[in-house]
Amino acid sequence: MSNVIIVGTQWGDEGKGKIVDWLSEKADLVVRFQGGHNAGHTLVIDGNVFKLSLLPSGIVRENTVVLIGNGVVIDPFHLIKEIKQLEEKNININPDNLIVSDSAFLILPIHQIVDEIREKNNGSKKIGTTGRGIGPAYEDKVGRRGLRICDFLNKDEFESNMKKIYDFHNIWLCAMGEEKQDYQDAFNKLWNIGKTIIKFIQPSWLIINNFKTSKANILFEGAQGTFLDVDHGTYPYVTSSNTIASQAGIGSGIGPTAMNYALGITKAYTTRVGSGPFPTEDNGDDGNKLGTRGHEFGTVTGRQRRCGWFDAILVKQAVALSSINGIAFTKLDVLDGFKEIKICVGYEIESKKIDYLPSSSVQQEKIKPIYEVMKGWKGSIAGIQNIEDLPYEAKLYIQRVEELVQCKIILISTSPERADTIVLENPFDVN
Ligand code: IMP
Repeated sequence: MSNVIIVGTQWGDEGKGKIVDWLSEKADLVVRFQGGHNAGHTLVIDGNVFKLSLLPSGIVRENTVVLIGNGVVIDPFHLIKEIKQLEEKNININPDNLIVSDSAFLILPIHQIVDEIREKNNGSKKIGTTGRGIGPAYEDKVGRRGLRICDFLNKDEFESNMKKIYDFHNIWLCAMGEEKQDYQDAFNKLWNIGKTIIKFIQPSWLIINNFKTSKANILFEGAQGTFLDVDHGTYPYVTSSNTIASQAGIGSGIGPTAMNYALGITKAYTTRVGSGPFPTEDNGDDGNKLGTRGHEFGTVTGRQRRCGWFDAILVKQAVALSSINGIAFTKLDVLDGFKEIKICVGYEIESKKIDYLPSSSVQQEKIKPIYEVMKGWKGSIAGIQNIEDLPYEAKLYIQRVEELVQCKIILISTSPERADTIVLENPFDVN
């Protein structure tokens, strides 16, 4: 038995979906523990493309059970939409292979409206959210007025609490000159959709504990990335949940001593969607080339991702924050054909050198990256499955990244296809 946590080590979009899918082969249970349908995970299996936002990526495997943990915020309309989309691709979803935590919080229609209107009013300080109501839903959770999945079991209580939430947000909406939202229509629709979800509801901690007792392998699938973490990221340009490895236990109901391995997913260069500091962003030809080759468009919003060179300072910090044991290095093939490849090995702020990301966003905006330049490789590495077949320069790049981020690379992904993965160590085989 082994329990593995997967987290992104940059700003999300590191290619977690493919690695989770690949690792799910050995997982009996795959658990989402934070975020919501702001995530976008793409899986390519024998040429078939699956795009998931809320359901754990293990759902496409026949014998894998997936669980949406209490730390996730759930838009029930989206959940049903995603289930239907997968069913159209002949993936069977039922209460035996999908479990939804009874204590996960709900994203209500008004949360999405508040999210959008806030962004509209933020002017130059826009976060660049996915507009899916994630932030307002988490605010209601910690504000102790949120609605949970288990509330679908009690109609009167649900309705009166939902009205209170609408009253709360309507005060602000009206003050901003926006239209007041009617809870009644939203309630009727929500209550109806709730009836289709009830069959999936269970206490997640209990299920996870049962799997643990039966010595099963559990995979905890993180969404977004380390620097979007509300505590450890580039605040306020972050998402509203904790995205680092420690959240896996809180967001699902299991303790830290049950975890065996933290796997960091790291892209061979850096991208970011939305606003906020990005020290190695490249607005020139190199950034454009990375974006075009890497198809760097958001899975959820379709927005063009900002691109830049690999930032070793950032990833070294992510390794420390999640006590990462090994890294899956993704999209290495996107660097094919670059004559030179840059790596950020240090930061300079007002002529002072530092080797970590400072907490203040004002300081973060002042960072000037210090680069080391490496020689690129000739030809394409796309689809390579053995480390020996990589060009010498690609191996040197991998080695240098390992040294700089102080962590070994154990998986290398050379194309979106499940099979195109160089395996040096399988986290489930390490104990
Ligand atoms: P929110 O999570 O929709 O509130 O968005 C907050 C920030 O996180 C924005 O910059 C989004 O672009 C970013 N974000 C949220 N989810 C993802 C993701 O799955 N990948 C990359 N960025 C994300």
